[in-house]
Amino acid sequence: MTAPSRPPPLRVARAREWRRRWDRQQERYLPDREERFHAMLDVLSAALPARFRFLDLGAGCGSLSERVLHEFPLARGAAVDFDPILLRLGRVGLGTVGGRLSWHEADLRKPGWTRTVPAGRFDAAVSTTALHWLAPAELNALYRTLARRLRPGGVLVNGDHLAYPATSERMRRLARRARWESSPAGPSGGESWRRWWREVQKEPALREEVELRADRVPPHHERVPPLDLDGHRRALARAGFRASEVVWSRWENRVLVAVR
Ligand SMILES: C[S@@+](CC[C@H](N)C(=O)[O-])C[C@H]1O[C@@H](n2cnc3c(N)ncnc32)[C@H](O)[C@@H]1O
Repeated sequence: MTAPSRPPPLRVARAREWRRRWDRQQERYLPDREERFHAMLDVLSAALPARFRFLDLGAGCGSLSERVLHEFPLARGAAVDFDPILLRLGRVGLGTVGGRLSWHEADLRKPGWTRTVPAGRFDAAVSTTALHWLAPAELNALYRTLARRLRPGGVLVNGDHLAYPATSERMRRLARRARWESSPAGPSGGESWRRWWREVQKEPALREEVELRADRVPPHHERVPPLDLDGHRRALARAGFRASEVVWSRWENRVLVAVR
């Protein structure tokens, strides 16, 4: 019996190309994605000194970390995700940004995730398009953990789909319609999420990560309905955050800031 051959190396240029395609694919669903990133950077600029430590929760291949580190040359970050494919693309394609970014494989639904990141208190936790993957009980636990890991005065800055209440079905319908109409690509243009995933899983250099991912990452559609905006704010208050407000929004696509 012959041993299975090792996958070829993942070249930096190739990982960068996958990351670029990732950003374009995300923009298909979030045409205001860059504007939302800017709104989040504005919050960090207003809330923190020039030198700060941040966590990027559900960092994917590092789109948000990259922008934070570019805007704040003295900042240092820890990018956390459980997806082996996205982590590899981030580690190879973005790297450590001159030793300022570390990458951590951890499942935010599991209580021990915080042990995988550097010790001590952080000044900020940031996240984009990720926390809606967590069920309400998991999010409550995550907020409690963050309340312990953020220093007093530190901020959580979350850009995500934060829904209108279930009782506002009409507003939810309007928001869905507005979202597609405002997309430059429209609902059928550009590379879709599904297609990006189909294509990246054919990448020979990612063969081992594809196998790992099949074991670790649940299908996106299996998640339970996430908390709505009011649910997030109540959970943050219960966890010990002093204040929380929406600072940017396009319908249900919002940036929620909470102060520890
Ligand atoms: C739509 S992607 C967004 C990635 C990145 N933040 C961005 O804006 O490009 C959602 C990310 O959340 C991550 N994620 C979802 N559930 C997670 C969990 N339980 N633990 C760690 N990461 C998780 C996924 O693996 C994925 O990278």
